[in-house]
Amino acid sequence: MKIEKVGVVGCGLMGSGIAQVTAVAGLPTKVLEVSQDLLDKGLASINRSLSKLVEKGELTDQQKSQAVARLQPTLSLADFADCDLVIEAIVENLERKRQLFSELDRLVKPEAILGSNTSSIPITELILATRRPARVLGLHFFNPVPLMKLVEVVKTVVTDPEVVQLALDFARLLGKTPILTTDRAGFIVNRLLIPYLLDAVRAFQEGCGSLEDIDQGMKLGCNHPMGPFTLMDFIGIDTTYFIAEVLFNEYRETRFAPPPLLKRMFLAGMHGRKAGKGFYDYTDPKKPQVNKLL
Ligand code: 3HC
Repeated sequence: MKIEKVGVVGCGLMGSGIAQVTAVAGLPTKVLEVSQDLLDKGLASINRSLSKLVEKGELTDQQKSQAVARLQPTLSLADFADCDLVIEAIVENLERKRQLFSELDRLVKPEAILGSNTSSIPITELILATRRPARVLGLHFFNPVPLMKLVEVVKTVVTDPEVVQLALDFARLLGKTPILTTDRAGFIVNRLLIPYLLDAVRAFQEGCGSLEDIDQGMKLGCNHPMGPFTLMDFIGIDTTYFIAEVLFNEYRETRFAPPPLLKRMFLAGMHGRKAGKGFYDYTDPKKPQVNKLL
């Protein structure tokens, strides 16, 4: 079997990035959203990102238009019937993902592979919604997808080794470097990254330093591209909080427990850069200002 036609469910931050990189890699890509408005927004963001890559000389104009031509936007899941691989990048909600996988399972051919871009939901919970557990796995991309080189390939205890190999080859075809991981909450990267981010919130609350100084410390002292608070705003306070909850429920260790401040920010709708407000205020996105939180 070869992965020649791809479907991406969800054209938000992650879905649009995934659809973009598969189309650039030469694969006809169907991409679905729940409304025309969201589909248009997702496609506009793909267009912006492709234009940036052209500006930087990483793509030619022709490669950009060929990639756009390979994208087939749709509002109907039935259009995914001939896909060899369908990747879901919808909201982090177990029930919604299970429902989607069960519908996809009925629609796509028996040998097709179903992949999930979930950052925290156990893949094993999703395989149970299908009649093809051996052909379901995790394909975890990183934000911003067109720039980040990593894909975590997540195998469960029943994933067919052929499917794992196809997924590793698929990630390489996209110009990414895959790493293989087992189905444990957080996989490799979030299991290590999230406790670090949560610890930054605790350090701040304990008076270890100002929010800006903690960010500077990790940027200049460790060469991280973003300090922990900038990164949480970038990932989304809601997403960081959800992942921490999932990790804490799985491992029951305090290092994974979301600090109350993070929860209050989530409840207050301070969801980070996309909401215009998180640890920083993005009224002027070029000059984020620290929010007074304590
Ligand atoms: N498409 C194309 N180009 C893009 C882009 C996109 N989506 N986003 C940014 N760029 C380009 C910019 O145009 C800019 O180009 P230039 O160098 O010609 O000016 C270049 O990338 C750098 O962008 P910026 O100057 O705006 O900002 P930075 O220099 O800070 O780089 C970054 C941006 C690559 C995002 C960098 O800050 C970074 O690597 N940050 C860390 C990201 C990270 O850790 N991601 C993982 C999050 S965890 C995750 O995703 C897992 C999930 O489960 C939570």
